[in-house]
Amino acid sequence: MQIGQTLVLESEDAQRAFGASLAAQLPPGTVLFLEGELGAGKTTLTQGLIAALGFDGLVTSPTYALMQLYPTAQGEVLHVDAYRVRAPQELYEMDLERLMADARLSILEWGQSFYDDFPDAWLLRLEHLEGGRRVTRLR
Ligand SMILES: Nc1ncnc2c1ncn2[C@@H]1O[C@H](COP(=O)(O)OP(=O)(O)O)[C@@H](O)[C@H]1O
Ligand SMILES: [Mg+2]
Repeated sequence: MQIGQTLVLESEDAQRAFGASLAAQLPPGTVLFLEGELGAGKTTLTQGLIAALGFDGLVTSPTYALMQLYPTAQGEVLHVDAYRVRAPQELYEMDLERLMADARLSILEWGQSFYDDFPDAWLLRLEHLEGGRRVTRLR
């Protein structure tokens, strides 16, 4: 997916399949920010992506745990949900930077506070549409 490109995803399955299609496009060490309101499809996209990298188990929203590491066939994927995080410091104190540096891929929901710290990261915006979702790559 190119910067500026937009796609319409008309079902949960399409959302997952889009996530899966990203797997091959994201080089090792990629940081991926997902932005969009509750229910915009961030976790669904993440599920498709992590499954495509070769993880068989359940991928859930780490809202309470804040972060979760998934061992995939291609390396560890870090999934962060910063919704309940008040200050970026909270996550940095949990060794976020080292975990991200070692990960095959780091996916952050509600990671706005970290955008400036990771200038090379991908940023996808997800929006509700009638009967689906729209995804736009902002960077
Ligand atoms: N493209 C889509 N079309 C229709 N429903 C979707 C789509 N993507 C996700 N959903 C549904 O929207 C709900 C919320 O998705 P979720 O990924 O949990 O959102 P978020 O993580 O952004 O809060 C889920 O029930 C999911 O199945
Ligand atoms: Mg979520």
